[in-house]
Amino acid sequence: MGYDLEKIPLQTSPHSTYQDYLDADTREVPGIFREVGNAVVDIADVSKDRYVDRDWYEREREVWEKTWQVACREEHIPEPGDYHVYDIGKRSWLIARNADGSISANANTCLHRGRKLRLESGHADEFRCPFHGFTWSLAGELAHIPCEFDFPQIDKDNFNLHQAQVGTWSGWVFINPDPDAMPLEDYLDPIRRHYEPYKLDQSFLGSHVAKVLDGNWKIIQEAFMESFHSLDTHPQIVGTVDDFGCQYDVWEGKPHVNRMLVPFASASSYVIDQVTEQDVYDDWTGRKELGQDDSAYILADGETARQATAKARREACAAMLGEDMDHVSDAEAVDGWYYNVFPNLMFWGGYGPNMWYRFTPWKDSHEQTLMEVGFLLRHPLGQPKPPPAEMTFLSVDQKWSDAEELGGLGFVLDQDTTNMAAIQQGLNASYKEGVTLASYQENRIRHFHQTLDSYMPKK
Ligand code: FES
Ligand SMILES: [Fe+2]
Repeated sequence: MGYDLEKIPLQTSPHSTYQDYLDADTREVPGIFREVGNAVVDIADVSKDRYVDRDWYEREREVWEKTWQVACREEHIPEPGDYHVYDIGKRSWLIARNADGSISANANTCLHRGRKLRLESGHADEFRCPFHGFTWSLAGELAHIPCEFDFPQIDKDNFNLHQAQVGTWSGWVFINPDPDAMPLEDYLDPIRRHYEPYKLDQSFLGSHVAKVLDGNWKIIQEAFMESFHSLDTHPQIVGTVDDFGCQYDVWEGKPHVNRMLVPFASASSYVIDQVTEQDVYDDWTGRKELGQDDSAYILADGETARQATAKARREACAAMLGEDMDHVSDAEAVDGWYYNVFPNLMFWGGYGPNMWYRFTPWKDSHEQTLMEVGFLLRHPLGQPKPPPAEMTFLSVDQKWSDAEELGGLGFVLDQDTTNMAAIQQGLNASYKEGVTLASYQENRIRHFHQTLDSYMPKK
């Protein structure tokens, strides 16, 4: 951190927009970065009941009944008979790989007396209920009724497990319980199109860390939807992350996807007058803190920290994929691509490693969240997908930084975590009826709530 926080001026003005960064790129930037989304979103306060009221949470169940949501990764269920238990709110789903390679999402509840069919993920030829032995195929078709003579009332053609729709994209397995839902391909507009070139079919779950946090799932998620909090929550990053240069995109007619593009290896307007490009580079690479020799890499004349970082990233990426990556722009190689897919997935683009987050209510609580974080890696073309990383489940007393697989990100997440329970407590205590959001830097949060409102049942 080569700057003095005391010297930050009270008023700052943006020195660069994200589009300015693109203009200075050393390569041609893909058109997707030029798709600026400035759809108008209502700037009225967002009501606080959605964070604090149990009644809101009860009505919000409808969201999980109507939306496409990530249940697991394809590599969690690679072989026929593999199944994954996905719990959401009071619902539970058995995501199973069928003999023909297709995937089924079966309601994880026995049609006899309601026992949950499986408590944990695993492998099976069929789903036999451990209580009395009613049995269904992997695809949820009725296979066996014990003492069938005793159940004359059962219509065997109408006793299959309840199904959700299933779709896959980039290795993610999505389900949607709504039989009338729009196709997943349309739902994922424009992220699906934007990520097309990045070989996500070669991706696999390289790391997976989870922790239960105090706070409504939306509070936790929204902490990652803006860079406005950088200076006060993460003062160590303003020398290398340009919060003012972020682009926040909300597109007309695209309710389920929005994004934030974050210039990395670039100083914030807060400190840009205090640092050199070499300072930014040294700070970004962590070399000073690591006590390494400052002369290990000196930027060439006119070279920016961002350009030098892009060069190194291209080389790392080429080694990972076994392909020439010289065409990759600085923006693709360096920046943070915070795309959100409604309701609860955040997933980075580019050639990876791709960071992802998921936020789900924990054990059907409106005041606790299971937050999961990880990275997708790539395997070389033609090679089988490696098995997914085991989930590291942090205890209440453990920090994100205790998870070695998160590297330096863990410390940043620990800083974010310090706000979360306090937000829930503050909202519970507040006399104010809503939260007041910035018109630009927090427009994605308002966009999220606009979409949320559209799924909420009327009172
Ligand atoms: S509850 Fe499942 S077989 Fe009886
Ligand atoms: Fe943060």
